[in-house]
Amino acid sequence: MPEPLNYAIIGCGGIARAHIAALESVPELRFVAACDIDEARAQSFADEFGAQGVFTDYEALAADPDIQAVSICLPHHLHRDPTVACAQGGKHVLCEKPMETTLADADAMIAAAEAAGTVLMIGQVLRFRAANQKARQLIAEGAIGAPMNVLRRRFSVCKEYPRAPWSADPVMSGGWTLYGFGSHEVDAILWLLDSPASTVYAAANKNNPHWQDYDEITLVMRLANDAIATQQHTINCPFGAWDCIVIGTENAMRIETNAIVLGEETIDAPLQDGGGMHDQLAEFARAAIEGFEPESSGRNVRRTMVALEAAKMSIASGEVVDASAL
Ligand SMILES: NC(=O)c1ccc[n+]([C@@H]2O[C@H](COP(=O)([O-])OP(=O)(O)OC[C@H]3O[C@@H](n4cnc5c(N)ncnc54)[C@H](O)[C@@H]3O)[C@@H](O)[C@H]2O)c1
Repeated sequence: MPEPLNYAIIGCGGIARAHIAALESVPELRFVAACDIDEARAQSFADEFGAQGVFTDYEALAADPDIQAVSICLPHHLHRDPTVACAQGGKHVLCEKPMETTLADADAMIAAAEAAGTVLMIGQVLRFRAANQKARQLIAEGAIGAPMNVLRRRFSVCKEYPRAPWSADPVMSGGWTLYGFGSHEVDAILWLLDSPASTVYAAANKNNPHWQDYDEITLVMRLANDAIATQQHTINCPFGAWDCIVIGTENAMRIETNAIVLGEETIDAPLQDGGGMHDQLAEFARAAIEGFEPESSGRNVRRTMVALEAAKMSIASGEVVDASAL
């Protein structure tokens, strides 16, 4: 095996621990540095996971020639600048979802990686979950005929999130429900059907004062392949639901966490340990070493950012938005 790439994490909060846990099955990466604006947190993270490097300034890390790959695990509005700085410093970047909070920021990230010739991958971890991968394969093979209608729900209840106070502020999160959860769910729909959104209508309400933004959201998308897709979000529903039904011309499927129901047949597809994070990090490492475009590359996830931007515009205007023009 070639020498592992020296790998750093910027932002040592909650999700950083899932990136570190995934490293155990990714020998292509060697953890060498932690960066957090909170120095004590960066130091204790480095100590706990055996790195020598400690940074409080991502620009200093980006300029360090001994680091080749980074995970960016920062609040949403801080994804663009560190990604651009790291690309300019020649580093491959795995940036957590959402790519950013605006399409213009996402485009700046793509442009920086393309100019530098580095990998830019977004942490769309749902693409690495077994049931979603199997469903996508079945759809591509024609198991339900041509997809016509997608009904996807993400219902949960959450009245606070003290570990990440920035997430409640729409300036930093872009709106937690749309950009925190919607970035997963909209991406999953477009990826499952391998088709971008051509028009988007979204309606939203504010129901939960903690989040300071829309937390009841329904999006209706017409995709380029002519399917319609409805994504429903709430974070005020105590009994919860997280599933996806795809109806085609020949059959229908329901995608669950550990299985797919295809017509009357149940196909087991158990969720992997780590919920897909191991496979995601392995894909990133291989793409960085071998130089291929990874699953959920920045360029591919751009269409998710287009749909989210169109949803935001539609919520504001009450109109259907032509996403194909964005
Ligand atoms: N894939 C998933 O399922 C999943 C789950 C949770 C979070 N996330 C994503 O991960 C990202 C981070 O979320 P989190 O829950 O870990 O947040 P968090 O608040 O727990 O951690 C963010 C860290 O960034 C640090 N930080 C803030 N500004 C900084 C700066 N300028 N320079 C360096 N460090 C800085 C903070 O001190 C904190 O330690 C978000 O994009 C979020 O949506 C993804």
